[in-house]
Amino acid sequence: MNNFTISIIGMGYVGLCTAVGFASKGNKIIAVDNDPEKVNSINKALSPFHEPHLNDSLQKAIKDGYLRCIPDLTEAILNTEITFITVGTPTKADGSINLQQIQNSAIEIGKALNKKDEYHLVVVKSTVVPGTTENFVKPLLEKHSNKHCGSDFGLCMNPEFLMEGSALYDTLHPDRIIIGENNQKSGDTLESLYTEFYSKEIPPILRTNLSTAELIKYANNAFLATKISYINTIANICEKIAETDIQTVAKAIGLDKRINPQFLRAGLGYGGSCFPKDLKALIAFSKQNNYNPTLLQSVQKVNQQQINHTIDLIETELGELSNKKIAILGLSFKPDTDDMREARSIPIINQLLKEGADVTAYDPVAISNAKSIFGDKIKYASSAIECLKNTDCCIIVTEWNELKKLTPEDYKQHMKTPILIDGRRIYDPKQFNQKITYKGIGLGRKDL
Ligand code: UGA
Repeated sequence: MNNFTISIIGMGYVGLCTAVGFASKGNKIIAVDNDPEKVNSINKALSPFHEPHLNDSLQKAIKDGYLRCIPDLTEAILNTEITFITVGTPTKADGSINLQQIQNSAIEIGKALNKKDEYHLVVVKSTVVPGTTENFVKPLLEKHSNKHCGSDFGLCMNPEFLMEGSALYDTLHPDRIIIGENNQKSGDTLESLYTEFYSKEIPPILRTNLSTAELIKYANNAFLATKISYINTIANICEKIAETDIQTVAKAIGLDKRINPQFLRAGLGYGGSCFPKDLKALIAFSKQNNYNPTLLQSVQKVNQQQINHTIDLIETELGELSNKKIAILGLSFKPDTDDMREARSIPIINQLLKEGADVTAYDPVAISNAKSIFGDKIKYASSAIECLKNTDCCIIVTEWNELKKLTPEDYKQHMKTPILIDGRRIYDPKQFNQKITYKGIGLGRKDL
């Protein structure tokens, strides 16, 4: 097998999982990051973030000599054939995308290409708004390399669809591969890498121009976010109808093949480093292009309103929140990650604190990241049971498996008043309703 040598710039989720994924099938990978701590940690086979199964695969890749991490981008370009850019594209104050890291990478890659005689393929994997690769990355690469894109080096845009929590699995088993290409040779080179990599398990490959590939990523995330806000809207309607349950409605509509069951879990809404950021960027991009994307703005609004709605549910039970003791179970933006970026726990806890509540929180892995956000404004428990002790109300914010194992008795025994707001609908209402005060998002009240 003629495996390509690959460099990957930026060791966030996408970068590291892509690096480990390629290394697992025998590609020689040079990972690059400008944070010396990250570089050290990766070379010691310790993932800088919590991601199931990643440490084992990282360990194997390092031990077998297929992956090393360095700070020097030039060395990485000179010693590889293909470079993936996987740096962050955060949000600016006005909601638009911040391309600073993309700019730095493109300039440095360009300078390194200037020192190289052989053909090299540059692939943008970071999420960037349509036109960025063509009108921003390409001119920077050409200027700093003094070479022509197409003949001297190739350029592709290849969005990533992995989810945190199943990042490695998703990298190894994608539904499809999108190759946005500057020209045929660029696309052919990337397609041959993937054909070799996935072999018989190759998913469908779609080849497009650069801007279409960029838009596909936003369209994908915006659609999934729309599904979530849609089901949360129906959930809120359910709460107005006696004896209805959003989970039954979601199950039924999910069986329609045109809808499908995924991303129909009603609850506190979406968080994380992607949906909120990508929605903002797509809205800002549309407005810059004189289009007001009303649907996407509503998706955002519904997501924000789920927080107020949850606070309303608590207040209905407790009245004034001042000095009330509230337990928060789950802090990360979703289970199986310690990622707190845009986690729903943040606006909920901030609102509770604003109203004078006394908050204690528990999360299996995200406490240390949460401490850098809330500091000593809240208390931290070392177990779910400890978190419940003497509290007036508990909110399930993240659907960790270990929380699913708690019983109504656990809540009854340890809380001062067993009032449970199930923000992720992890419990069986029938079982819980009999023993404690149980309120779930999208659960029609009995007494309506
Ligand atoms: C998301 C996309 O799913 C990936 O395809 C994409 O590659 C990634 O963003 C990205 O752009 O990099 P991720 O942010 O890891 O992945 O997490 P998701 O599993 O999509 O969940 C996002 C949020 O939606 C979480 O807060 C989750 O709790 C919430 N969610 C998800 C719901 O509230 N209901 C659902 O039914 C599904």
